[in-house]
Amino acid sequence: MRIGVLGAGNMADALATQWARKGHEVRIGARTPGKAVALAERVGHGSAGGTLRDAAQFGDAVLLAVWYDGVRDVLREAGPLAGRVLIDCTNPMGPPFERLRTGGGPSAARRAAVTGARVVKAFNLCPDSVWRMTPPEFGGRPLGVPLCGDDADALAAVRTLVTDLGCVPMDGGSLERAGLLEAATAFMVGLWVAGEDPSAMLPPPEYSGVPRRTGA
Ligand SMILES: NC(=O)c1ccc[n+]([C@@H]2O[C@H](COP(=O)([O-])OP(=O)(O)OC[C@H]3O[C@@H](n4cnc5c(N)ncnc54)[C@H](OP(=O)(O)O)[C@@H]3O)[C@@H](O)[C@H]2O)c1
Repeated sequence: MRIGVLGAGNMADALATQWARKGHEVRIGARTPGKAVALAERVGHGSAGGTLRDAAQFGDAVLLAVWYDGVRDVLREAGPLAGRVLIDCTNPMGPPFERLRTGGGPSAARRAAVTGARVVKAFNLCPDSVWRMTPPEFGGRPLGVPLCGDDADALAAVRTLVTDLGCVPMDGGSLERAGLLEAATAFMVGLWVAGEDPSAMLPPPEYSGVPRRTGA
């Protein structure tokens, strides 16, 4: 797959490195193109760096990996994205993790969808250190990655990229649910910051009170 990466920070580094190793063609773009070139050199495997527009127009799939406050400018710089698979890993949050920066309005993912791109919310729940693991596996169990999106082909493409990391894609439902995933992430990060272990609050699915779906 041809993957464009918008941003040259930690998330861009972690995910671009994994996908390039798996044989995907990666082009990284940043508002300071020199940073994208330097990152592409580190990522290797034939990756290249340049402008935001270079990366956005290159990718069959485009990863949006910049700070939420910069998203609007970055998407404007990226040029036309209509119909493109846009993977949104942004988190509209920050300390003290009491409210989202989306201010009760549409989710970050919904806002990115105004470009006409086929947005899939993914990879926002865990820190870049986890995405750098090969594979991200805990207690012998591969990490699950929830995906929220409306387009079946876009979801299929992102499921492939999740599997390439050694993770397991999870059906997170429609793009409308991306706001819940953004809020859940902010809540979970707040627990981590408070020194709590969020994994301890989740019972196994058979204790959820929700009848299990049976196979067809
Ligand atoms: N790091 C994590 O563990 C993690 C995990 C899940 C999700 N996320 C989300 O992923 C996104 C990227 O995080 P990161 O950790 O990769 O951040 P980072 O290492 O700080 O890199 C941020 C990137 O965003 C760009 N940027 C920041 N403000 C900008 C603006 N106003 N206009 C244009 N570009 C701007 C930076 O460009 P410059 O270098 O030019 O400043 C840089 O390329 C964020 O939305 C974050 O919430 C992060």
